Amino acid sequence: MSKQEAECWAAPHPPGGRTCYRVVMWLVDAVDEQMLIVCRRKRAEIVQRMQQAGVRGARGVLSEAQHELQTLNRNICRAAFDFFTRAQGVRASELRAALRADAGVLGYRLGDAAAEVWLELVDEEGVGEHIARWQAALPDVLWCAESIVEQVPSHDVTDMQQTAHAAGAECTEEAAENVAEFSHTTVLLEEAASALQAAQGKVMVDATLGGGGHSERLLQAGASVWGIDQDPAARAAARRRLADYGEQMHVLAGNFRHIKTLLHSHGVDAVDGVLADLGISSPQVDTAERGFSFMAEGPLDMRMDPMLPRSAADIVNEASETELADILWQYGEERASRAIARRIVRQREHGRIVTTTQLASIISSVSPRRGRQHPATRSFQALRIAVNDELGALDELLSGGLSMLRSGGRMAIITFHSLEDRKVKQFFERVTKPEIDRPEWTHPRPNPEYSARSLTRKPMVPGEAELIANPRSRSAKLRVIEKL
Ligand SMILES: C[S@@+](CC[C@H](N)C(=O)[O-])C[C@H]1O[C@@H](n2cnc3c(N)ncnc32)[C@H](O)[C@@H]1O
Repeated sequence: MSKQEAECWAAPHPPGGRTCYRVVMWLVDAVDEQMLIVCRRKRAEIVQRMQQAGVRGARGVLSEAQHELQTLNRNICRAAFDFFTRAQGVRASELRAALRADAGVLGYRLGDAAAEVWLELVDEEGVGEHIARWQAALPDVLWCAESIVEQVPSHDVTDMQQTAHAAGAECTEEAAENVAEFSHTTVLLEEAASALQAAQGKVMVDATLGGGGHSERLLQAGASVWGIDQDPAARAAARRRLADYGEQMHVLAGNFRHIKTLLHSHGVDAVDGVLADLGISSPQVDTAERGFSFMAEGPLDMRMDPMLPRSAADIVNEASETELADILWQYGEERASRAIARRIVRQREHGRIVTTTQLASIISSVSPRRGRQHPATRSFQALRIAVNDELGALDELLSGGLSMLRSGGRMAIITFHSLEDRKVKQFFERVTKPEIDRPEWTHPRPNPEYSARSLTRKPMVPGEAELIANPRSRSAKLRVIEKL
């Protein structure tokens, strides 16, 4: 019988800022006793070397020893996960339940005879107490008395969660299959495809897959496409629409801020094009239950990725008045930010604000309609940006995307509001200037970030025909650069 794939799971919340640990525990016969004896001896030797190096302050020796220790632990872990037992698998539902019920567990990988767990200590308990409790969930199996406990940086944990969420995405997508028809009109379709020079043999990333409109155009031109989206409903719709392209199309679940990790984990190191059509899709706005629209009654949610820890309702009901005002001002440029925040805080004394229309009417009571714009437009935009950390993700996409491009590869970004566009414009300026100058310098100096040339001195915008056919395209702007 072939060895089964390990089962991965990640908690919906990211690390909370405390020290994180990686724990590996295994069944008693999963790792050869001789191997453990050798490892134990080697570990004692390394620890002694580390202590001596610590006393002498020899940083080089210390980090070399730490590296050896990690390799040793990795080898034990690999051996434990390679073991295959038909009789006493640790993938028992009791262990799974115990791990998921533990507030400190950020994720796990369960093999046939071993478990790898990422843990953050959230209360008074030590790592050993957690391990004892997990192992007690499976009293009938014989656990090895020793286990591996390593401190890990929180970005490692975030990467693990990202991969596990991607692996687990299929089940969520099945649920999303039941979602009503996905209808989104793609903006600047021909402009984006021709800017990217999609063609046979080229590899493109569509970082905002949505309903798959842009991807389809790139596939038609012969390129192969890696499409990323954090929304299961969008991925399900794109999979359906692009099913005929088979292996030419790959759908990845995740946030585009992890573009590099997502592609690297699939063996892709460089690409010819990166496209992003930022913001939300029409079905996201139009589905009342997603909570993006102030026009339709729905839960105050606004999460593009349903696994995100904080919904709009959490922010509206839990943020301080100053925090709320800052969000409305920074992400919505809402002039009445302070007054709206004050009113929200006063209103929530009477109970939680839970629906879109409830919030919209609180905002309207403070800030009257200005011209054609609904008074809640800016506040809703601000909350959406905060919930999804849209600007932080964009920063990471820009630098990660550029670093993934081959020489001659292109990056095309479509924005829909001034905050996004400013970020893209400033980033593109920063990486396309051969030199930089400062008032205190006598001469300009070479720009260390210079790595691309701009292909759009002014952003491309929709033509009249597109504006008439799709009024939602009115604020779209496309900027493009080419890697040197
Ligand atoms: C405007 S739609 C894209 C529409 C698509 N170009 C089409 O033609 O159908 C934007 C999509 O990007 C996704 N998205 C936005 N921010 C994201 C992020 N940080 N990571 C991954 N997907 C994101 C949204 O869930 C949404 O489906």
